[in-house]
Amino acid sequence: MRVLGMISGTSHDGIDIAVVDFTADGGKLAGRIEYSASVPYDPGLRGRLIAALPPGRPGFEAACELDTSIGQAFAQAAAGALAAPGGQAELICSHGQTVFHWVEQGHARGTLQIGQPAWIAEATGLPVISDVRTADVAAGGEGAPLVPILDRMLLEPYRAAGVRAGALNLGGISNVTVCAPGAEPVAWDIGPANALIDAVVTADPATPDTFDRDGALAASGTVIPALLAELLAEPYYAAPPPKSSGKELFHLGYVRQAVARAGVTAGLADLVATLTELTAVTVAGAVSGAGVRVLVAAGGGVRNPVLMRRIAELLPGVEVLTTDRLGVPADTKEAVAFALIGWATAHGLTGNVPSCTGAAGPRVLGRITPAPDGRLPQAERLAAWPAALSITGLAGPGDAR
Ligand SMILES: Nc1ncnc2c1ncn2[C@@H]1O[C@H](COP(=O)(O)OP(=O)(O)O)[C@@H](O)[C@H]1O
Ligand SMILES: [Mg+2]
Repeated sequence: MRVLGMISGTSHDGIDIAVVDFTADGGKLAGRIEYSASVPYDPGLRGRLIAALPPGRPGFEAACELDTSIGQAFAQAAAGALAAPGGQAELICSHGQTVFHWVEQGHARGTLQIGQPAWIAEATGLPVISDVRTADVAAGGEGAPLVPILDRMLLEPYRAAGVRAGALNLGGISNVTVCAPGAEPVAWDIGPANALIDAVVTADPATPDTFDRDGALAASGTVIPALLAELLAEPYYAAPPPKSSGKELFHLGYVRQAVARAGVTAGLADLVATLTELTAVTVAGAVSGAGVRVLVAAGGGVRNPVLMRRIAELLPGVEVLTTDRLGVPADTKEAVAFALIGWATAHGLTGNVPSCTGAAGPRVLGRITPAPDGRLPQAERLAAWPAALSITGLAGPGDAR
């Protein structure tokens, strides 16, 4: 079954797409990545989205407009993929765009992903699975992270060899899935990966970029120790996992307050150097605290050489690599994970990992929007998950980054 997975993450930089051809054969599920692409959001839409995200308080009118426009953007991106060589699929699984993750007293009460799937079904003629987080929240879980269903399978060879391994994602937020021999996987959000760097670069009127391309600013700046210490005093880092976080906490105003409390004046390069070091220190602390020996990284942050070098330097004795070495291009891992979750739902299989989300049990995820002609996902119900997954294939020609 060929499934197109799509997501725009917390960096809301654009829509990541992967088409994976899954073949289940007895105890083994083989996935071949046939196509991958990243389609940037139109700057106008991205601007309206940013204005609506916390600490913004949009009304229903803005929410309706964004749900529609983001649904249309996902629809266009999916239609583009389907028309490209290797992009054909029979089912779409769209994560959409998270606009609010409602956390109270350290626990998720609700979560909202928008990007109306009816537009995707209409534009592609395919059934669409969407809204993949809420079933986990309804079962008492955090609704996040969901990528561990893929991480667990990717790291299985290490676990089987007795090696404690971690899958690190450096998106807007950094998160890690730890798989150890003889234990259920655990996963949690570590802290900001690129969210704060992106926020300060975007806010600086002198730079047209929205992120620190190739770590150039961080490389030219100097870490400000007083500011780093102020940022590291954030209580979230010391809280025990499982825990989830997001831009509700880590946003531009948060940096400005820390700068004020530290009593420093920081130019952009020094600010970015400090925030990059914050990400490296918090990631290294989480990884070494978990006793991880092999760290497999993915997400846009792997393209920041300053960040990757500092993470490796702070983790002597830990092998640091990217998911590319395991067959999954680092930019594509989350889209592959949602293709896998779509495949699971179509086959009546559960998609959350309760030890990672805190849910009361495994749940089949998402809602199904029929194709415009009424077709539902065409798959037989499977009794149990295949025990092993292998993923092969490379990024497609459509990578727009
Ligand atoms: N060439 C690059 N150099 C530095 N940072 C990059 C580069 N490419 C992407 N990034 C960072 O990765 C982020 C996007 O990562 P992504 O994995 O898509 O995150 P999310 O899942 O939160 O959308 C960008 O906002 C940017 O901060
Ligand atoms: Mg992204």
